[in-house]
Amino acid sequence: MIKKILLGLGLFILVLFIAMVITAKIFSSTNNPKAKKEEILKSNTQSSKKALIVFQPGVSNFTDKIAHQIAKGLNDGGYEVTIDYPSKDLSKNVDNYSVIVFGSPVYGGKPLSIVTDYSSSLTNLSSKKIVVYSTGAGKNMTSELDIMEQAIKNADVYKKVKFVTASKKESEKNAYDFGKELSEN
Ligand SMILES: Cc1cc2nc3c(=O)[nH]c(=O)nc-3n(C[C@H](O)[C@H](O)[C@H](O)COP(=O)(O)O)c2cc1C
Repeated sequence: MIKKILLGLGLFILVLFIAMVITAKIFSSTNNPKAKKEEILKSNTQSSKKALIVFQPGVSNFTDKIAHQIAKGLNDGGYEVTIDYPSKDLSKNVDNYSVIVFGSPVYGGKPLSIVTDYSSSLTNLSSKKIVVYSTGAGKNMTSELDIMEQAIKNADVYKKVKFVTASKKESEKNAYDFGKELSEN
């Protein structure tokens, strides 16, 4: 009996250790800076409203897809939208944007630090609509959004939203609607 309990405990610790190593590896590889992206969706209207979406992709492409769906919603709502990675070449001058969205996948309850390092380095965010989003598996676990919110200096976060991987198509539609809604109010 004791042997079985010890074996079970040993297995549990081993699985926990492997999960921690995998999380640490994913964390360090996804936190690597990517080359500057600067993708711009021009506005189809005469509007001069501009939005910036800064996100770091995860292991697959869900965080990227969400960024593009939010961008499409904003763009259909009249905004010119710039999408970029938080690379060291990304300008810290965000004066031209009235909406700024920061996005990150979540690993082990935390957002990628490359995103929060960039967002916390911006000092002039007051009077802008600031949004943080995360992508992940757990709908009700949102500690990463609080960390992303705390990284924003001298400004309130307008909305924090998590897009879940369990229903990707639905999340992508929600992301488009969210972008459209952001453009409207
Ligand atoms: C090692 C590991 C740890 C994860 N930890 C969390 C977590 O703490 N909370 C959560 O909601 N999702 C967690 N996930 C799910 C990822 O956040 C999800 O796969 C990711 O957002 C997908 O984005 P991507 O397609 O851009 O990689 C984890 C996934 C892996 C592989």
